[in-house]
Amino acid sequence: MEHQSNKTITMSEIMTPNMANFTGNVHGGDILSFLDKVAYACASRYAGKTIVTLSVDNVYFKEPVHVGDLLTCHASINYVGNSTMEVGLKVIAEDLKTGKQRHTNTCYFTMVALDEKGKPTRVRPLELHNDVEKRRHQEALLRKESRLKLYREHSGRKKG
Ligand SMILES: CC(C)(COP(=O)(O)OP(=O)(O)OC[C@H]1O[C@@H](n2cnc3c(N)ncnc32)[C@H](O)[C@@H]1OP(=O)(O)O)[C@@H](O)C(=O)NCCC(=O)NCCS
Repeated sequence: MEHQSNKTITMSEIMTPNMANFTGNVHGGDILSFLDKVAYACASRYAGKTIVTLSVDNVYFKEPVHVGDLLTCHASINYVGNSTMEVGLKVIAEDLKTGKQRHTNTCYFTMVALDEKGKPTRVRPLELHNDVEKRRHQEALLRKESRLKLYREHSGRKKG
């Protein structure tokens, strides 16, 4: 695990035979479990608090991940609300024998910081230092709005 700054993290995991699905490639659930850990590590270090996962967006398994691949996940805090953080995850699968790398997925986890009583609690505001961070933040804002809109439409509840 590399420590790049307090709002990004990179973690890697080797895909072992026990993670195989019925086609012999890596089971989607194992990949999700890894991504959830990366999102947790990124958000927990940024906030310095207990974190839970609220939602996961844009998970598409468009390319298989193979047993033996080294899966590397680059994570960054794209957006901070009051208690929520959106963590963007870029996933790279590397064939260790050939060195060939494939960008298999980019997805977004929304994480919530909790206080000692398990209630959502404020996270320090996100500072945006460069154009990439500003673009990611802008895109995350749009995703947050459409997420809340969808949620309201489907649950009839008022949130956010
Ligand atoms: C996370 C949890 C504590 C939030 O509780 P809640 O009562 O919904 O929280 P609030 O209504 O106070 O909202 C807290 C934040 O979540 C956001 N939020 C809540 N529901 C949302 C939704 N459906 N879509 C987008 N954002 C949402 C709110 O906008 C708010 O953001 P902000 O603090 O940045 O302004 C609660 O839903 C929970 O415990 N969930 C289970 C988490 C868990 O166990 N995850 C592991 C997998 S099961």
